[in-house]
Amino acid sequence: MPDPDVSHSGFWKKIYAAGDAGWDLGGPCPVFEHLLRSDLAPPRGRVAFPGCGTGHDVRLFLAAGYDAVGFDFAIEPKGIPFEHLDVFELGERHPAAFDVVVEYTCYCAIDPARRAEYAGALRAALKAGGRLIALLYPMEPRPDGPPFGIDEAEIDTVLGAGLELLHVETPASSVESRRGRERLVIFRKPG
Ligand SMILES: C[S@@+](CC[C@H](N)C(=O)[O-])C[C@H]1O[C@@H](n2cnc3c(N)ncnc32)[C@H](O)[C@@H]1O
Repeated sequence: MPDPDVSHSGFWKKIYAAGDAGWDLGGPCPVFEHLLRSDLAPPRGRVAFPGCGTGHDVRLFLAAGYDAVGFDFAIEPKGIPFEHLDVFELGERHPAAFDVVVEYTCYCAIDPARRAEYAGALRAALKAGGRLIALLYPMEPRPDGPPFGIDEAEIDTVLGAGLELLHVETPASSVESRRGRERLVIFRKPG
């Protein structure tokens, strides 16, 4: 059973306060660095990072010329455009506002029972024609999260519901401890 506290900011604030944020890579995710140098790089535009943590990937996209903004409810990263927000409210607060939404390790952090709701919030925040870029981790059974494991089938049925799948791969550029355990998926919102 997931710890019901994961839906509350206090759970995450405690981890940050204790210096126990073991998920923090200390810099941008190499998969996104690689993506921005490839044909998969999205056109420049407004980019949302739900559950951005300390904001390394927001800085990466800002440096590459994107109008990027981070969202989190437990930490206030310095030096980046940022909004304190419960990510389940992203679509409501910013309807059809973003060209791109980048998901990394927030999907695995929330209560798995709320994944469809989270996916709906991301979809609602995207403009028609906008892209959801998700680096999904960990692609293995892990009921006692966070991180909660992700099943291959739910990539389409839950995260990508109502979206068009453009790309899926197991990136070679993942950090060593996550290599083979991540999927990079890119969806497009119809319209
Ligand atoms: C595992 S961390 C990942 C942080 C960042 N994406 C990274 O890769 O370093 C999950 C983040 O999501 C945030 N988070 C979890 N649930 C949230 C919610 N409902 N609303 C806003 N932020 C949330 C946590 O505060 C935490 O910063």
